[in-house]
Amino acid sequence: MGTVVAGLEGVVAGVTRISRVEGDVGRLSYCGYDIVELAEQCSFEEVIYLLWYNELPGRKQLREFVAKLMAERPLPTGLVYTMRTLPHTTPPMDALRSCVSLLSVYDPEDPLDTGDESNWRRAFRIMAKLPNIVATFERLRTGHEPVEPNPTLGIAANFLYQMTGQIPNDLSARAMDVGLILHADHEFNASTFSCRVTVSTLSDMYSAITSGVGTLKGPLHGGANQEVIKMLHEIGLLDRCETYIMEKLNRHEKVMGFGHRVYKNGDPRAAILKKMSRMMGEQAGDLLWYQMSHRIEEIVWREKKLHPNVDFYSASVYHNLNIPHDQYTPIFACSRVAGWIAHIMEQFSDNRLIRPVGDWVGYEYRPVVPIDQREAQPQAAA
Ligand SMILES: CC(C)(COP(=O)(O)OP(=O)(O)OC[C@H]1O[C@@H](n2cnc3c(N)ncnc32)[C@H](O)[C@@H]1OP(=O)(O)O)[C@@H](O)C(=O)NCCC(=O)NCCS
Repeated sequence: MGTVVAGLEGVVAGVTRISRVEGDVGRLSYCGYDIVELAEQCSFEEVIYLLWYNELPGRKQLREFVAKLMAERPLPTGLVYTMRTLPHTTPPMDALRSCVSLLSVYDPEDPLDTGDESNWRRAFRIMAKLPNIVATFERLRTGHEPVEPNPTLGIAANFLYQMTGQIPNDLSARAMDVGLILHADHEFNASTFSCRVTVSTLSDMYSAITSGVGTLKGPLHGGANQEVIKMLHEIGLLDRCETYIMEKLNRHEKVMGFGHRVYKNGDPRAAILKKMSRMMGEQAGDLLWYQMSHRIEEIVWREKKLHPNVDFYSASVYHNLNIPHDQYTPIFACSRVAGWIAHIMEQFSDNRLIRPVGDWVGYEYRPVVPIDQREAQPQAAA
């Protein structure tokens, strides 16, 4: 039996050409391009193209790519009907997970056809529909009718438009776009690995994306951004940051949005989002969220030498975009789905069933005693 590696930390589980995390130098790149340059110069659509085809598109390629995505935005009528029946109290991430799963029954492809061509068509459908699902559920649960996609708007601006019915200004659209770019892929993170495990059994893309959404939901992964905004609300005042964080650390609780399995010297995405958070605060005339975040960053560094991760400043950015807090993780999914799809296709292209082993620490072999002869045992632990 090999050595058990808790949390599979540092275990190399496969090869990939999609994104590269260099934790020691604090760099993230997609297909060889530094995330900082991509966030400065590209749109989310260009980044999706890059993740899927390993190259940045030219203008004509991008136009055709965007047109194909736009054509897939509308949701199946049956899905919207089902969404109307969901309780308004359904957490949006649960709604998203269920709707992604349900999308498969409306897919026009032959379910038995798992060839590349039909999978790429599924990829466009899933990518284009996820933001629409999130926005449509937001409208329905707040008692409004869904807003139809606007064909003149890119993914980021259209998402904000479908959520609110208002076309966002350039800075808000750009902040959303940058958020989507920065969350789009991250090597073998937990949800991406779930997707890869699912398709490694030769299961289908919808099942894999459903696994991905379910895995992303946890507070140690995509759920952290919601926990961050909850914390900022609980603190509420700049002067309370010190006491609140010190009390939390003294109770040995984690401060959400800090620390990372791989980036021990800082998460490059956090630095970009920090700037965005400040700009959004200035636009809104409300710098409190940025200032509290900055103060917390100083305290956590002083006490624990931990850096903020991608979730920390994305929380104040999304807050200033007026996005409801429980939609932060679904938005993360709308971005990460680009990476999930790239990884699913990469896994399919050179598949071997992913099936690790466990190290047995339970009972040694023992015979089954007939039920009438068994003595009552204390309730067994699960
Ligand atoms: C991201 C995370 C899961 C990485 O975990 P990991 O690599 O398994 O690291 P560990 O949880 O083992 O933490 C190592 C040490 O740092 C501490 N630590 C890590 N993150 C911390 C945090 N956010 N707040 C306070 N302490 C933290 C741990 O308590 C542990 O201390 P110990 O050795 O004294 O027990 C972890 O940092 C975390 O839970 N962060 C908060 C959730 C979060 O923001 N997730 C989003 C990730 S992008």
